[in-house]
Amino acid sequence: MSEAQAIDVLVMGAGTIGCYIGGNLAAAGVRVAFVGRPRVLGALAQHGITLTDLKGTRNHVAPGVIQLFDAVPTGARPALVLLTVKSGATAEAAAELAAALPQGTAVLSLQNGISNAAVASAAAPALHVLPAMVPYNVAELGPGAFHRGTVGRLAAKDDPALRPWVAVFERAGVPIDLHADLLPVQWGKLLLNLNNPVNALSGLPLRDELLERGYRLCLAALMDEALAALDKARIAPARLAAVPASKLPGILRLPTPLFRLVAARMLRIDAKARSSMADDLALGRRTEIDALCGEVVRLAKANGMEAPRNAKMIELLEAWPERKARWLAKPLQAAMRL
Ligand SMILES: NC(=O)c1ccc[n+]([C@@H]2O[C@H](COP(=O)([O-])OP(=O)(O)OC[C@H]3O[C@@H](n4cnc5c(N)ncnc54)[C@H](OP(=O)(O)O)[C@@H]3O)[C@@H](O)[C@H]2O)c1
Repeated sequence: MSEAQAIDVLVMGAGTIGCYIGGNLAAAGVRVAFVGRPRVLGALAQHGITLTDLKGTRNHVAPGVIQLFDAVPTGARPALVLLTVKSGATAEAAAELAAALPQGTAVLSLQNGISNAAVASAAAPALHVLPAMVPYNVAELGPGAFHRGTVGRLAAKDDPALRPWVAVFERAGVPIDLHADLLPVQWGKLLLNLNNPVNALSGLPLRDELLERGYRLCLAALMDEALAALDKARIAPARLAAVPASKLPGILRLPTPLFRLVAARMLRIDAKARSSMADDLALGRRTEIDALCGEVVRLAKANGMEAPRNAKMIELLEAWPERKARWLAKPLQAAMRL
């Protein structure tokens, strides 16, 4: 572990999201430090960070401007931590932060799912953990190069610790909106992310998968269970797509020629883009399935319901290492009893 120079923002988990958001803050003059793994740190040390987006924006952060660490640096006093590890690594990362940082340090969980902030809080009760939501997709294009492929604004739970950062994030090109209640926003995102396991099992690029009705029927069924549980729990998911969340399953079930017309915006995706869960399966990494379908199963159960299709999806993802063959749409529908 090495000593830190002055740090404003500490990125815990220098991966795709951490490098994109932390990198943009660094490009705007914020003193950012990154804690990560040797592969990414080596790339950042050699190439710095290059940030691009679909609007043609390009930012570069020179290697010397950022501080890089393989563990939370001793003596660091960041004003804000961005927690950007995948869900399965949350508790461990939070415990490492708690062991090194002052009590009360603000930690923003920029992770998918619903429970990551709660998991981090339980592992690090002395830290001030706040939930946030990243609406856009970021891909690592090469060493130190990160590209944002879709649009949107970050969202976080309103808290006095975050208010001074709103103008800073805006200036850095990663605007953030603060919400009194973030839960509807998180569920709005989770509903869309239910496509991740379907896409991963299909073995197809997102666009090709969404153009096959059989896969859309699987996704619609996962969404139906989530929407029913949300309704029972009296949570109205935020609208993050062109149509309200409740209308999504009906649109997904349309015949493909009609779906192409109605969902033209949804289909404006890079031809090769896949969900990162597909990459996780391909690389034998743990997936975030528990933070997606697992949340639906838990919400349903807490409200006296069941979510058998989401439970099945977890089972299929967990069985992947033995199978390692893509699921065609028909057998997937059959496995989900559709
Ligand atoms: N990528 C996207 O487009 C996107 C969009 C919206 C939301 N999100 C969410 O954002 C979160 C982060 O996703 P991501 O795609 O940025 O993940 P990622 O690229 O895998 O980045 C996380 C990085 O943190 C590292 N890490 C894990 N534990 C660590 C620790 N204790 N100390 C230091 N480094 C550690 C990981 O290394 P190892 O893998 O070696 O452990 C990995 O390099 C997820 O919840 C994801 O769902 C992602």
